[in-house]
Amino acid sequence: MKFKLPKSVYNWISIVGATIALIAFFMIIFLFSISFFLDRGGTYLGLVIYIILPSFLVIGLILIPIGMLRERSRKKDLKDSSKRLPYIDLNDVRHRNAFFIFLVGTSIFLLLSAIGSYEAFEYSESTEFCGQVCHTVMNPEFTAYKNSPHAKVRCVDCHVGSGADWFVRSKLSGLYQVYAVAVNNYPRPIPTPIANLRPAQETCEQCHWPQKFYPRKLLVHKHYLADEENTEWQIHMAMKVAAQTSAEGLSEGIHWHINPEVKIEYVSSDETNQEIAWVRYTNERTKLSVTYIDEENPIDEEALSTSKIRTMDCIDCHNRPSHIYQSPAFFIDEAMAAGRIPSSLPGIKSIAVELCDEEYSTIDEAMKTIDSTITKYYDENYPELVETSSPLIEEAIIGFQNEFSKNIFPEMKVRWDAYPNNIGHVEFQGCFRCHTDTHTSTSNRIISKDCNLCHSIYAQGSPATLQTASFYESLEFEHPVDIDEVWKDSFCTDCHTGLAP
Ligand code: HEC
Ligand code: HEC
Ligand code: HEC
Ligand code: HEC
Ligand code: HEC
Ligand code: HEC
Repeated sequence: MKFKLPKSVYNWISIVGATIALIAFFMIIFLFSISFFLDRGGTYLGLVIYIILPSFLVIGLILIPIGMLRERSRKKDLKDSSKRLPYIDLNDVRHRNAFFIFLVGTSIFLLLSAIGSYEAFEYSESTEFCGQVCHTVMNPEFTAYKNSPHAKVRCVDCHVGSGADWFVRSKLSGLYQVYAVAVNNYPRPIPTPIANLRPAQETCEQCHWPQKFYPRKLLVHKHYLADEENTEWQIHMAMKVAAQTSAEGLSEGIHWHINPEVKIEYVSSDETNQEIAWVRYTNERTKLSVTYIDEENPIDEEALSTSKIRTMDCIDCHNRPSHIYQSPAFFIDEAMAAGRIPSSLPGIKSIAVELCDEEYSTIDEAMKTIDSTITKYYDENYPELVETSSPLIEEAIIGFQNEFSKNIFPEMKVRWDAYPNNIGHVEFQGCFRCHTDTHTSTSNRIISKDCNLCHSIYAQGSPATLQTASFYESLEFEHPVDIDEVWKDSFCTDCHTGLAP
């Protein structure tokens, strides 16, 4: 017996459709098996298996009935049948075959698409998808993320969170982003704060929550001055994240701002919340509130009434929890402390910092310039050193190139100064956006800039002459180079910009 199908199937549109669908189907099965059983493929394979091929499969399947309908209406034109709509006659062997193919095909298709759309969903939430598919665009965020404390937290845990509404919102904005990348008109660097970042209560607080007690955190920073000897200068300090002794809760210390009984609101006159002239603190228990206005920089009533009031949460301080682009002053110091850039090479800090301040159009150009400039610098200034310790210079070049490419991304115009970092006050105003001593309430309460409010300095100085504090005391800050008492009345950012001042 011959296997027969309705005549209307035999038209070129349906045949092409069926061919596309079959090829796509077998490719999906094939690639899926490879990635599943052999664990091969990586990032782009997921995009092909779960998004591109299924689109072809669906297009192919849609073409089959389209071709059939067209064929029918053409036939109808020819012999004007009285049957106007397509009908199924199960007594006709062609119809029966087509009907069973349709039934079995649809069931398999529905089952596979249920699995497929779940896989597509999982895939579109994966870190590879977010971070690697649009390689150039996301390279800075992805690279910094991999070197951050959150390297094991998925992008979507911070950027999307759970629930259908944020899912839809983020996928819609994602579609626009795909379009922007396709037509190559995305901003460089990508602007922040991100308009549709989910509130911290629903993201950060899934893993860290305000009631959680954090004790003090000890920081040890080793700095190297930009002089010929790369003079080392250490600072050991304890960040008063919470109170010194009370383990009960967050009644004092830096995390006081997120104490559930405390509400801090502020108004900023710029997009990135760097200028803050109005702050209100409300005690949620007593409902008493204090309003502070910056005397140096007062905001006028009209601007205030039209401004958006923002309630402070984690992101107002930890705005770079994952995409941390360190400043040259910081990342070069860190690499020198770890021995990745030899600190015994004279002047290496100074030349490396200068190289970070250049404008480059591509990372390759930066790598070449670094190599040639450092080589030339030592050839010209330290010819005897080149003879005795050229491997050290080579090590410095490679070490510095590595650090550079983790923190500076010329193609996307991303570097430390593209995004302010609000933890601290040395290179960006950070805490000193409010803690200025000049934000004053009508009852003369101020937001204090006292150097002991947020941290205690336990030790400071060069290793040979390190001053240390007695137990739980704090040293008065000593500036590593003599600048008189200037640091007391000015802001650190007046001189420090991330390079060597
Ligand atoms: C720990 C939470 C967290 C994780 C994990 C995370 N992000 Fe972010 N991301 C943020 C925050 C917070 C901002 C916004 C910073 C701001 O508003 O100043 C941000 C900003 C961004 C921006 C805007 C540009 C910029 O650098 O500010 C992009 C793009 C981005 N993230 C992509 C990603 C990608 C891709 C991943 C995964 C590889 C990821 N993020 C993982 C928290 C996170
Ligand atoms: C899915 C869970 C998860 C989410 C969501 C998350 N974090 Fe984390 N966070 C972690 C883990 C895990 C660590 C690492 C802890 C460790 O190394 O001891 C961490 C560490 C940190 C640290 C300490 C960093 C350091 O230098 O040691 C900070 C600050 C932080 N997170 C802030 C945030 C902020 C702000 C957000 C929201 C934008 C956030 N986290 C969202 C899991 C998460
Ligand atoms: C007023 C600014 C501010 C706010 C608001 C804030 N933090 Fe912090 N947080 C800090 C500072 C400063 C540190 C000390 C660590 C440092 O300097 O790197 C810190 C430390 C941490 C640490 C590391 C603690 C440790 O011992 O390792 C985590 C985790 C953290 N914060 C999470 C959060 C989360 C989650 C929120 C929101 C619920 C939040 N923070 C709100 C300023 C803040
Ligand atoms: C939006 C404004 C604002 C920013 C930004 C801000 N603070 Fe505060 N902070 C306040 C206010 C308001 C108070 C309460 C002042 C008072 O006592 O009247 C306060 C109080 C504090 C206190 C004393 C809490 C206690 O024990 O009573 C510490 C510590 C502190 N802040 C640390 C920080 C650190 C560290 C940063 C930067 C990471 C920071 N703050 C950023 C507004 C801010
Ligand atoms: C409102 C809180 C606050 C006040 C007030 C404050 N600091 Fe800090 N300070 C911080 C934070 C937060 C950091 C960043 C810690 C980190 O690197 O994570 C910091 C970092 C530092 C560092 C380390 C810099 C480095 O890169 O090694 C020094 C030094 C320092 N502060 C000195 C001072 C001096 C001097 C004053 C008084 C004029 C002062 N601080 C006032 C919160 C504060
Ligand atoms: C009048 C300008 C000026 C001010 C204000 C100033 N500094 Fe400096 N700072 C310098 C100079 C110049 C150097 C030496 C830079 C070098 O050789 O690398 C320096 C070096 C440092 C270093 C070590 C080198 C490094 O790696 O950055 C630290 C830490 C530092 N300053 C902290 C601070 C802090 C904290 C404040 C604010 C309380 C501050 N400075 C305010 C000019 C200033």
